Amino acid sequence: MMKRSETEFLFALTNPGTEKALKLEVETMGLGWRLSYQRRGFVTFKADTPFTLDSLDAEVACARRLCLSLGKSATREEAVARLGEVPVVHHARFHDRKMQGGHDGPAPARPKPGDLIGTVVELGEGEFWSGLHRHAPFLSPDPAGDSGIVMTERSPSRAWLKLEEGARFFDLDFTAKDVVVEVGCAPGGVVLALLDRGVPVIGVDPAKMADVVMASAVANREEGLPGRTWFHHCRKPAALVSKRDLGQGVTWFMSDMNQSPEVVLKECARFCKMAPGIRGALMTLKLTDPAQVAEKAGWFATLREMGFRKIRLQQLAVHHKELALLAMR
Ligand SMILES: C[S@@+](CC[C@H](N)C(=O)[O-])C[C@H]1O[C@@H](n2cnc3c(N)ncnc32)[C@H](O)[C@@H]1O
Repeated sequence: MMKRSETEFLFALTNPGTEKALKLEVETMGLGWRLSYQRRGFVTFKADTPFTLDSLDAEVACARRLCLSLGKSATREEAVARLGEVPVVHHARFHDRKMQGGHDGPAPARPKPGDLIGTVVELGEGEFWSGLHRHAPFLSPDPAGDSGIVMTERSPSRAWLKLEEGARFFDLDFTAKDVVVEVGCAPGGVVLALLDRGVPVIGVDPAKMADVVMASAVANREEGLPGRTWFHHCRKPAALVSKRDLGQGVTWFMSDMNQSPEVVLKECARFCKMAPGIRGALMTLKLTDPAQVAEKAGWFATLREMGFRKIRLQQLAVHHKELALLAMR
């Protein structure tokens, strides 16, 4: 008989519509996992040898959550009972064409690395799956990798949610000492989220910015003084930005340009050369087809050449045909 920490199957929770990309990614990674059972937003795999908690360390970008599968139940109570003694139980469900995390009350405290977490996934009437995972750095602390954060009405775009969701997922800490340069910043959802966190931003985009962020604008980069929260709009395409436009003190590169991953990475490399103090990069990669995730090894190699050591590619609950690419020194 198998120990509870060894299972025959594991399951992945993914954004409905990206199951195919997830399977292709797993295949490309050469993990030896074979497709077993699949529903919208829920894909199970089996392998020649049992899965253990270590199997879940595989960095599968299209999985918002990976769990050892403890099997299927007809009721929620039975599914919770299958988890046995776990300190935390997350609930997830396929509802409204989305794989949603359960958020009954305020966001739970962030788990510590190593904490065991049970997940009960409701796929439809009478179909509940129980799963187990171990919290680790760069894993979402939230049920089904879905923060449930609701966008402020002040935001001029949904990009606000992508920044907030990404920061929560990866546990990023931005401080007033940071200066972010965001390429593709209009109309300003990400900029607003950063300014609200007290982080100054240089935004690069030929397009117009919303009034809500222009209220913090400084006309010249030199006016962006340390210790203040300011926004400087560099109204030109990314390729025309010079070292002088960036000035001193830039610590983060962000991109939300609707350009190919290759163009985004090329600009990331150029900006890192112009601003050697960049310690992190957070990019939304816009894919024409989610299957482009199979090209991730090439993107990682490019980032390693730039000197980044910790690299994560991750689908977020708020994404459609997009992925968040995080790189840190
Ligand atoms: C999805 S929108 C960005 C949303 C924005 N981040 C926000 O928070 O509201 C994409 C933006 O990328 C900009 N863009 C596309 N190519 C660009 C380039 N080469 N340089 C700078 N911006 C670019 C477009 O003008 C557009 O405003």
